[in-house]
This record gives sequence, structure tokens and C-alpha cells, in this order.
Amino acid sequence: MITRRAFLRLVGGSAFSLVSLGAYAVGIEPMLLTHVKRYTLTPPHWPAGLKLRVVALADIHACRPWMTPERIAALAEEANALQPDVIVMLGDYPAGTRLVTGWVNASEWASALSGLKAPLGVYSILGNHDWWEDRSAQAAGAGPTISRKSLEAVGIPVLENDVVRLEKDGQGFWIAGLADQIALLPNKAEGRRGLTGLDDLPATLAKVGDTAPIILLAHEPDIFPKVPWRVSLTLSGHTHGGQVRLFGYSPVVPSAYGNRYAYGHVVENDRNLIVSGGLGFSIAPVRFGVRPEILQIDLG
Ligand SMILES: [Fe+2]
Repeated sequence: MITRRAFLRLVGGSAFSLVSLGAYAVGIEPMLLTHVKRYTLTPPHWPAGLKLRVVALADIHACRPWMTPERIAALAEEANALQPDVIVMLGDYPAGTRLVTGWVNASEWASALSGLKAPLGVYSILGNHDWWEDRSAQAAGAGPTISRKSLEAVGIPVLENDVVRLEKDGQGFWIAGLADQIALLPNKAEGRRGLTGLDDLPATLAKVGDTAPIILLAHEPDIFPKVPWRVSLTLSGHTHGGQVRLFGYSPVVPSAYGNRYAYGHVVENDRNLIVSGGLGFSIAPVRFGVRPEILQIDLG
């Protein structure tokens, strides 16, 4: 027989645990436990002697109280302190949830991001929320989006089906940025039934003018099966690792491939993909088992 006292203790304890778990998933893990996720790899055809540190920030989703300009500025300082050769940002700068106490406008998050500094520069791509939250871009079915204009206003280049060639110690490499794969929302008047992408991988890679290695930035990882072997490494965000991840499994992933590209380092047919769990969140302000992360990738 379970005593009343033991029963109450059990119930009380469970209620307390649930409250603590809630506080953890809503407040502590999303905001306080940002960490640096480190990868060291030599992709299959990476040139000998090219040692490159890439730091990547994904899915910032600026909003109050979760991702304020002050927090973004602090994350930028943290990224700089990793002494990267180059910094890349993988899209989704505006809020991705309505559960906020206040909005952060684009000029505010962009000015916080302008603190990012790296010897070879800072480059960015856009994500679906950069398009979805921009009514005039949706109506026009074309950019430039508010996010693009705001990043460019603080001197951060935005690569949409575009490439840039950089050099470290005399060795060249390319950063290619793909336009968003689900940029345009359905619009009957425009004859768009589903989500429409603006990505053009063949045209992007056609801009690569020599045999130097390529790092591809693509907000959604779903492009990966189409990425040729010529690309040394693909970097993506968007999934937030599902936001909730237990024992290496994410119950809900915004990807046609489910858990295949939900999080982390994926190697398929000698090609490498790294999916960041990102920094902010969408839909609900919850994170569990996927701490906000800054990526540090050492190639060479
Ligand atoms: Fe996204």
C-alpha cells in the first residue's frame, strides 16, 4: 500500500520536475547554454596544406526576450574569439515564432551582426524566414529582401546563387551561397501552389572559375543529394536539430528527409554535410537536447 504521504511526495516531486523541465526547455537551454560545436575534417579532395577555420552562425531568429540585439552582439564577440579565418551566416535572421514579447527590427540585428570580424571576411546567405517575413518580397516574388538590404547596409555580402573566391596563404577556395529553396509562399494569383525555391545550384557552381575547393552554404540541407562531389563541404542550418532531440533522434524535423539531415556531420558518397543546430528557434520557444551552437570547423 502506498501511503498518502509517499503519494503526495511522488506527485509533488513529479510536478516539481515537470516545472523544472519546462523552465529548462523554455529558458535555460535556449538562452544560457550556448556552446561551440567543433568539427575537424579533411574532406576527400581538400588540398594539402590549406588549413582553414570556418566559424558559422545559423538561425539567429532575432526577437525579444529570446534573441535580443545585445545577445546577438555577445554571440558575435564569442564567434570572433574563436579566431576564424572566415565567418559565414546560414540564414533566418528574423523571428520565427509569434511567441515573443517584442520584435527586433532588421537594422537592429544587422547592426549587432556587424561586430563579426574575420581576416578573410564575413559572408551570408538567406533562409526561408528572411523571405516569409517580407511581405513586399513575397508580393513581388523577388528580392532584394529586407534581410538582404540590412546585411548589405552593414557591409556583409549576401550570396544568393553567387560565389566568392578567397585566398589563404596563397591558396584559393570558393564560398558558394545558394538562394533559399523554399523562399516563396503559395500564392494563387501568381500561380504558385506550393513553396517555391529560388535556388539554382548548377548556375551557382557554374560561376566557380577554377579548380580550387568549394564550400557551399545552403540554408536547408535538403539540397544535399543533388550536391556534386566537386563541392568539398556543404553547410546548412534550418532544422534546429528538430529543436527537441533525444538519443540522437529528433521527432519533428522540417526536412523531406526526416532525421537523415536533422543535425550534425553527414557523409554520403564521399561528400560532406554539416548541419548546425542553430541559435534561435521557430514556432515555439523551446529547445531540448539541442543547445544553441556556434559552429567551428577546422579544415585541412
Ligand atoms: Fe529556416
